Amino acid sequence: MEKRSYIGIGLLGLGVVGSGVAKVLWKRADMFAEQLGLPLSLRKVLVRHPAKHRELEVEPRLLTTRFDDVLADPTVDIVIEVMGGESPAKDYIQQSLVRGKHVVTANKEVIAKHGPGLLALAREHCRELRYEASVGGGIPLIAPFQQDLAANRISAIHAIINGTTNYILTRMANEGMDFSAALRQAQELGYAEANPANDIEGTDAAYKLAILATLAFRSQVRPQDVFQEGISRLGARDFRYARELGYTIKLLAISKEKNGAVEARVHPVFIPSDSLLAQVGGVYNAVQVEGDLVGKVIFYGRGAGAEPTSSAIMADVLAISRNICCAGLAPAWLRSDRNKAIIPVADIETRFYLRMNVADSPGVLAQIARILGENQISISSVIQKENDRQAQTAEIVIMTHPARESAMQKALKEAAALEVVREIANFIRVEG
Ligand code: NAP
Ligand code: HSE
Repeated sequence: MEKRSYIGIGLLGLGVVGSGVAKVLWKRADMFAEQLGLPLSLRKVLVRHPAKHRELEVEPRLLTTRFDDVLADPTVDIVIEVMGGESPAKDYIQQSLVRGKHVVTANKEVIAKHGPGLLALAREHCRELRYEASVGGGIPLIAPFQQDLAANRISAIHAIINGTTNYILTRMANEGMDFSAALRQAQELGYAEANPANDIEGTDAAYKLAILATLAFRSQVRPQDVFQEGISRLGARDFRYARELGYTIKLLAISKEKNGAVEARVHPVFIPSDSLLAQVGGVYNAVQVEGDLVGKVIFYGRGAGAEPTSSAIMADVLAISRNICCAGLAPAWLRSDRNKAIIPVADIETRFYLRMNVADSPGVLAQIARILGENQISISSVIQKENDRQAQTAEIVIMTHPARESAMQKALKEAAALEVVREIANFIRVEG
């Protein structure tokens, strides 16, 4: 058998996501080659308008407007479909699989409508069809449903799975921004679908919920099975009343299994403002899953945009590539001769919260501040909390700016030795 010198990629689409993928392929070429033992090589890129000005420059010889050029290229092992829409994307995916190419797609419409048939076709041709990027942008969801949660009976999914509408709702709720300005910004940031009505009316979320519910309940849930209502009838007054009543408005995708039947719906809901899902703002998505063994788990991250989506697509490409070129071998990055140094805790920098009981007399704070200063620790705030008149002590709480652990340990020892310090009651590291 001829020895491979690379894994060939055919890219269908060079828009927001396609450009993101091409950029990652180019910028992370060395990292991927090291992981796989072989480079990934971009062989063809299908577009509609080859002459269009693009921020990302792709070698003109790679661009084509004819899908057949990708299909007939024997050097293309994996086709990445990021064109969007049902047609001709579905047909191109089918043809690629039949020709013996693996396929990675971000296309939720095609997967929601035709996933089971396409997966059967992939199996028939011993090829992989992966679609991690179709739901939740960069958040790993498909793989966890297929693998990590496989031992569970899932009872419910509550999800924010459309970045565009969550971005719009967040801006409207927090800043009183007007609907069309918020939509425009979401489009400029590359979150919205080619037809943003699909986002606004809940269609995009319905496709994604159909994909997740099908995996969760191991039973096909089709897009038309999902009840769907969008966000276009929400007005400023609704946001105001929601806030007054202690609620936040979110477009939720909900699916549950009850007595062997499945409910699936996408619509705006009032959720308590202190719930975790209510805290999910902007383009962030979150999917809460309830399994009988695992309990509740939440997957959270950026749900749209070129980079997060490229992260999911490349994860699929790398998984397929590993199967192509080094099945069964330990991953190349696990090399003990390349281990990175472990930073000793003494060298780690964090902020600190200090609570001390001190003598309630003049000049005490100055003595403590001097010790901190001599150890290069800068104070960010001080509060004197309580006085104990009988014991003539006061409790002070100090927050610091980032400081080295070793410096803080030394300062604490010195402070504890001060006559005026009765007790270092606690010190807690502050993250974030
Ligand atoms: P986009 O910016 O509209 O890009 C689409 C690309 O596909 C363009 O380069 C276009 O060519 C090409 N294309 C479309 N139809 C074609 C055809 N018939 N023949 C040849 N080329 C064609 O779309 P996108 O935002 O990157 O989204 C792509 C896919 O990823 C969609 O399925 C979307 O749902 C999914 N997705 C998007 C995001 C996101 O944040 N944007 C996140 C997750 C998943 P031209 O450039 O020549 O017009
Ligand atoms: N239009 C989609 C969204 C892109 O806003 O979530 C990610 O699938």
